[in-house]
Amino acid sequence: MKYLIPYAILVASVGTTAETPQQVMDAYTADAVRRTPGFAPNAGLGEFLFVRKFAVSATMPNCAACHADSPSQPGRHILTRVDIKPLSPAANPERFTDAAKVEKWFLRDCTKVIGRECTAGEKADFIAFVSNDY
Ligand code: HEC
Repeated sequence: MKYLIPYAILVASVGTTAETPQQVMDAYTADAVRRTPGFAPNAGLGEFLFVRKFAVSATMPNCAACHADSPSQPGRHILTRVDIKPLSPAANPERFTDAAKVEKWFLRDCTKVIGRECTAGEKADFIAFVSNDY
């Protein structure tokens, strides 16, 4: 009986343990490899995804429209003007530590900017890019 409470605390803390950006990226990489054997995350392609202007939305042509020119810089929502913390985990340790949150925002933001969901490979490239130290 005396071990029950510590065990409960351990289970609770394990259950809420955050993921690391590496783990979140690895999960997308594993998914991409299933579709494209030999796939490896490419930070250069992630950077291209970040800066590239798409023709879907005039107000938000690219990710940088809200996330600033560099992931290490704070951004500002192009429509609401609300401040957005940097995307880079080095500048903001909360980034890419919650796979469900990451997935939710990739879905929303890729759909708005690119007009479709990002692929697992694009997501892995993007995390490789923002995880580079600046
Ligand atoms: C219209 C403004 C806007 C644009 C454009 C935008 N984002 Fe975002 N993004 C946000 C907001 C708002 C959040 C949530 C607030 C926060 O986490 O600071 C967010 C959060 C995220 C997150 C969550 C990361 C984490 O772990 O916290 C990812 C990933 C992301 N965006 C990727 C992208 C990508 C990729 C693009 C370009 C395809 C993009 N965003 C374009 C506004 C934008």
